[in-house]
Amino acid sequence: MKNIAIFSSGSGSNAEAMMTHFAEHPKGRVALVLSNNADAYVLKRAERFGVPTITFSAQNLRETPQEIIRLLQQHNIDLVVLAGFMLLVPAPLVAAYAGKIVNIHPALLPKYGGKGMYGCHVHEAVVAAGERQSGITIHYVNERYDEGAILCQATVALAPGETAHTLAEKIHRLEHRYFPVAIEQLCDE
Ligand code: GRF
Repeated sequence: MKNIAIFSSGSGSNAEAMMTHFAEHPKGRVALVLSNNADAYVLKRAERFGVPTITFSAQNLRETPQEIIRLLQQHNIDLVVLAGFMLLVPAPLVAAYAGKIVNIHPALLPKYGGKGMYGCHVHEAVVAAGERQSGITIHYVNERYDEGAILCQATVALAPGETAHTLAEKIHRLEHRYFPVAIEQLCDE
C-alpha cells in the first residue's frame, strides 16, 4: 500500500479524481494534500475525503524545503503527485523523492511546456498555432519545468472552431481518466 501526497495550487479537480480512484484501493491511498495557496479549493475537496492538508508559502518551499521533506517523511509518503502545482520543485525535494515525483501537463510535451505555459495559456497557444490535436503528458519531475522523462501521453483532436475554453474541458476529462490509472501503475513499483 503506497502513500500518495498531492501538491496542488488551485481547484484540484485532478486531486479529486485521484482521491476518488484511491478511496478504497488496495495499492495506494491519498495520505496528504499540500498547497501553497491557503484559499485553494483543493483543500475543501481534501477535507470532504477526510484527507489531511498542509499549506506552505512559496518562500517556505524555496528556502526551507527540508521542512516539507520532513512532513512528507512523517506521513510516510512514497509517491508525490503534482496536479496543478504552480511552483518549481526545489532540488532537495527532487533528490529526496528521486523518480517518485510525477506531474501532469495539459499538452503534448515537449511542445507547449516550460515557464508561463500553464492553465489557459497552454490551450490558447495550441489553438492559436492551429494544431489539429493536443493532449496530456504525465511525466517525472526534475528541477526544471516540464522536462522530466515522459511516462505516458494521451491525445485529443481539436474540432473545427475549438476554443481554449472547450479544449480545456476536453483535456480535463482526459486527465481525470488517465492520471489516476498512471499513478496506480507506479504503486506496483
Ligand atoms: C491541469 O490541467 C493540469 O494539467 C495542470 O493544471 C491543471 C490543474 O487543474 N498542471 P485542476 O486543479 O486539477 O482542476
